[in-house]
Amino acid sequence: MSGRVLQSFPRTAHWRGGLDGCLVLIDQTLLPTEFKEIECRDVESLWEAIRSLRVRGAPAIGVAAAYGVCLGMQRSTSGDLESFFRRLHEVCDYLATSRPTAVNLFWALDRMRRKAESMRGSPTPQIAQALLEEARAIEEEDRQMCRAIGRFGAELLCDGQGVLTHCNAGGLATADYGTALAVCFAAHEAGKRLHVYADETRPLLQGSRLTAWELQQRGIDVTLICDSMAAQVMREGRVQAVVVGADRIAANGDTANKIGTYGVALLAAAHEIPFYVAAPSSTFDLSLASGDEIPIEQRDPREITHGFGRQTAPEGVKVYNPAFDVTPARLIRAIICEHGVIEPVAEQNIRQMLQSNHPV
Ligand code: MRU
Repeated sequence: MSGRVLQSFPRTAHWRGGLDGCLVLIDQTLLPTEFKEIECRDVESLWEAIRSLRVRGAPAIGVAAAYGVCLGMQRSTSGDLESFFRRLHEVCDYLATSRPTAVNLFWALDRMRRKAESMRGSPTPQIAQALLEEARAIEEEDRQMCRAIGRFGAELLCDGQGVLTHCNAGGLATADYGTALAVCFAAHEAGKRLHVYADETRPLLQGSRLTAWELQQRGIDVTLICDSMAAQVMREGRVQAVVVGADRIAANGDTANKIGTYGVALLAAAHEIPFYVAAPSSTFDLSLASGDEIPIEQRDPREITHGFGRQTAPEGVKVYNPAFDVTPARLIRAIICEHGVIEPVAEQNIRQMLQSNHPV
């Protein structure tokens, strides 16, 4: 695909049609060389799309899973209420096994369950219709939250700064516009000239395949670096702020994000560069006291030994492949959410901000 600047952006995940419709996803495994949308017509194909990262990024996984519940319920409206609810819980439990770390998945599934429970007693086609509306609301709210994150975050950046980001927390990782990249997009739209350094993000290269692509599409100055170059780039004085997304934020502010994020936070601290996390309220998990309790996804060793089709390690070598790491709150200057900027990052400030219910 060319590097031309796009004026409108395709939707990461959207529902096509009515109750018997399907979920349309951008297949992110094919980017940046191929732009293709796929149609998920059953819950099994959506489960596979989440597991294999065709749709990925914490908020986008939540949106997709909400629609996944609608797919799973499509043939269940003719029976009685009991079998409808049995099926609903089966579908939600199944989708919950697709990936363990991004809490947005569980948040969206809980919200779908609660919506259905609030209508127990109504005819099942009516509940199914309400579930579709709830999934659409989750998508729309995510879109609004990302815009608000962009507005608050843009204030933290100055004209002419170098900004480093890790993985992809852009429009592709959300319903639209992103979290960490929303901060860059909004600053750029406000006339601040930024230079973004995108870590390529081993092993699955979300930084080079997706972040560099998204920034190019929006006409933002971007330079791709290997993950191992971040220290040198900081030492050379090219980076004045780091902004990353999150998959789960514990009550004390410890933040799980793509593997390598913790290392970037340590580097930023060593160079006295502010390290920001941008995430919607759906990414906070206040039931966990600290990041020690966040489940970390372990992925297939072949992502490291056979990345993108070529064997790059000796046969039989032992591999450790955690997909996420946890950055301790003390390394995070501030968390940007749709309600505002949480600084300093401390449990009381987090709880206060999330309860503040500022309009988005
Ligand atoms: O494995 P991925 O690609 O789903 O990991 C994505 C990330 O780590 C993102 O930084 C995070 O989900 C935030 S997306 C707004």
